[in-house]
Amino acid sequence: MVLMIICICRRINEKGVREAVSAGARSPESVQSYHGCQFNCGKCRCAIGEVIAEHLESTASADLLVAAE
Ligand code: FES
Repeated sequence: MVLMIICICRRINEKGVREAVSAGARSPESVQSYHGCQFNCGKCRCAIGEVIAEHLESTASADLLVAAE
């Protein structure tokens, strides 16, 4: 399995972002905080935001499917 590195400076991969979101992180800053770090260059901010949005959309869809059952 290939894990895409989202934040090169802090070595946070996509799985790490999803893990932070599952634990309650809802912003790129809170994802960094979850991993005990802060932005360095900040170039990953948008990519982290996209993963957060995707993860929240997928969990919302799953919740709707469960509610429909
Ligand atoms: S790539 Fe994330 S802080 Fe630089």
